[in-house]
Amino acid sequence: MSNREQWSSKTGFILAAAGSAVGLGNIWKFPYIAGENGGAAFLFIYLICILMIGLPILNVEILLGRTTQKNPVGAFKALHGDSHWKYVGGLGVLASFTILSFYSIVGGWSVAYTFEALRGTFHSFETPQVAAEFFNLKNSNPAWVVGYHTIFFAMIVVIILSGIKAGIEKASKFLMPVLFIILMVLVFQGLMLPDSDKGMSFLFNPDWSKINAKTFLLALGHAFFTLSLGMGAMMTYGSYLSDKDDVVNASYLVAFLDTLIAILAGVAIFTVVFSSGYDPTAGPGLVFHVLPPLLAQLPGGYIFALLFFLLLTIAAVTSAISILEVSVAYLVDEMRYSRKKATLIMGALVYFAAIPCALSFNVLQDVTILVQGKAFTFFDTADYLASNILLPLGGFFIAIFAGYVWGVDEVVKNLLKGNSESVYFGNTILESSSSKKVFGLLIRYLSPILIFLVFLYQFGWI
Ligand code: PHE
Repeated sequence: MSNREQWSSKTGFILAAAGSAVGLGNIWKFPYIAGENGGAAFLFIYLICILMIGLPILNVEILLGRTTQKNPVGAFKALHGDSHWKYVGGLGVLASFTILSFYSIVGGWSVAYTFEALRGTFHSFETPQVAAEFFNLKNSNPAWVVGYHTIFFAMIVVIILSGIKAGIEKASKFLMPVLFIILMVLVFQGLMLPDSDKGMSFLFNPDWSKINAKTFLLALGHAFFTLSLGMGAMMTYGSYLSDKDDVVNASYLVAFLDTLIAILAGVAIFTVVFSSGYDPTAGPGLVFHVLPPLLAQLPGGYIFALLFFLLLTIAAVTSAISILEVSVAYLVDEMRYSRKKATLIMGALVYFAAIPCALSFNVLQDVTILVQGKAFTFFDTADYLASNILLPLGGFFIAIFAGYVWGVDEVVKNLLKGNSESVYFGNTILESSSSKKVFGLLIRYLSPILIFLVFLYQFGWI
């Protein structure tokens, strides 16, 4: 396997991994989940989950990839033979289907709204109600949803077909800086608005009465989703690193950039929402119903609306490629398919798997199952399954594998490899024996126990 492609540089990997982490989770989901769950209070719990559970698992996932140079199924096989552990990798491949099938629909909406912004459509929306009607009307047409899903999906396939260096790395190196610049422009304009301090205080002044067990459930699920954990995406990206590359510092940087961008997106969005006197608890429609008219009504609104949906599209593309890459790497490593063949086969399978989600807003809107007393369409079910079940479950097994099967000593020894010219602080922290203990505690006890409790709560057993 010596001809396996690798990232051309450390920065290339970090931007690709940050590209995977920073996605719809940061710009579409985080603001509405925070909005519905008390703003700053949610942010606080979420930060704890990122630091105590997300970060150690992120290290382990990248390390599993770097050590084995394999896709998630192959990685477990390489370390533990042909045992049941390979099914944890298999769970990742399954999750990659599930996530992409709703992700690509939202990605398609983002592309569609970028075009609508370009045409100036949002100027005619007087209120979010009108915008919501427009959204529902468009979605009632299956050809519209499937069409934009197709355009979005085609972009991902083209990038994946071009390979690691010329595809994923090149796209991330170009798109991630653009994303950051656009976001900074939006944050800046948000802060200049009258009453922007109301949005800021919603995001940064916690109302503790809003916190309950459900907040933990959501925060933990979202921590996995936003860091792309629990399904082998980071493992797969890590498998294109060499032993010389530093995992610890890369993990710090990726988690930091991801969190920073979620918070900045929160600032950009809530300053606009509050300065227009709207309610932040709009749910998943926040970005597509509430934001277009509010942005369009600002001075220079045409350009801000366009920038916002461009931002959303870029974030979605760089994440979606990492989701598809998991399945593609699986076929390339395990079945020895060429990248082209693997991409076309997996691409077609996932593309069609997403169709029921696309039809959830029109022809299949009445096909629902009851989840926790709510009627869920295919789209809702895929989202729920991924964030609340598959990713935490994958994370649980990865923590158990690292903590008990591979072993903390071995994990830390491997983590410390290849960090010689490191300029950051990560490894020095890990080298001390007390921090090794802390790492062991987090990965052996805290992560699995918390994830387990969240499951019990979710199924109504506690
Ligand atoms: N992290 C991505 C986001 O925040 C989603 C994702 C989940 C990507 C799992 C890869 C794997 O949007």
